[in-house]
Amino acid sequence: MTTVTAPMIRARKGGAKLRMTTAYDFPTARIADRAGADIILVGDSVANVVLGHEDTLAVTVDMMVHHTAAVARAEPRSLIVGDMPWMSYHVSPEHTVLNAARLVRDGGAAAVKLEGGRKRVEMIEAVVDAEIPVMGHLGLTPQSVNAMGGYRVQGKEAQAAYEMISDANALVDAGVFSLVLEGVPDRVAQIITAEIPVPTIGIGAGPGCDGQVLVIHDVLGLGGGEYLPKFVRPYANLADDAVEALERFFMDVEAGSFPSEDETYHMPDESFEILRGFAEGETIAEF
Ligand code: KIV
Repeated sequence: MTTVTAPMIRARKGGAKLRMTTAYDFPTARIADRAGADIILVGDSVANVVLGHEDTLAVTVDMMVHHTAAVARAEPRSLIVGDMPWMSYHVSPEHTVLNAARLVRDGGAAAVKLEGGRKRVEMIEAVVDAEIPVMGHLGLTPQSVNAMGGYRVQGKEAQAAYEMISDANALVDAGVFSLVLEGVPDRVAQIITAEIPVPTIGIGAGPGCDGQVLVIHDVLGLGGGEYLPKFVRPYANLADDAVEALERFFMDVEAGSFPSEDETYHMPDESFEILRGFAEGETIAEF
């Protein structure tokens, strides 16, 4: 099967809806790929859903490389996009390119994603110039949680919506091959989707985008039942299934019914007899 590339994703504008989810390690990457993801995002949401942080600001480039490399070892057919963490693309274009290159060279990503609008144009141009495809991210950008004063839907007011549409056009001019729209009113997402020539991928942005993304732990119900945003639809409850499976394991351990004969390794009788001969008078002889 062909491996998905950034130009292939770019060419899907207006075509079949793009399927994107996150993965942070080998098993989640294999699951996402087997389910037919076009894009696997190694999101900085790893901070929240895997590492237990309150926000995404704790994640470093080293941590993202570590998780991206685990995803790449699953050799998915999906396009692997490495998320650039906070402060990895804010200092200078040179610093940004070197950090993006680490996600590609050391992590195995084939593209990177970064958050923000017009003020990121210089950084995006530098990364695109280094031949690394860039996915943009507008709206409720979690790395701006302190500046936004919390996780709030963005672009509800006319002026803010207009600014976001201008940001989307600026990102396209800078060379992004696709654009995530997070926490955006549906009408604003529809306008951006109609206006720009690259696919939009929505998360809490209504059904009008060219594709949709959800965090894999939210889709699978692996988060253990904490608060879920309104835009999340859990398709399974794997946390409860996992607790039940472990409870059954522990009950079998307690009852002595695990492991069974079939789940146990055996020593050939001849070897055992020789072993007993070695150990006259010791505990071994009693067996
Ligand atoms: O980090 C992440 O998981 C993301 C998606 C929610 C788009 O940025």
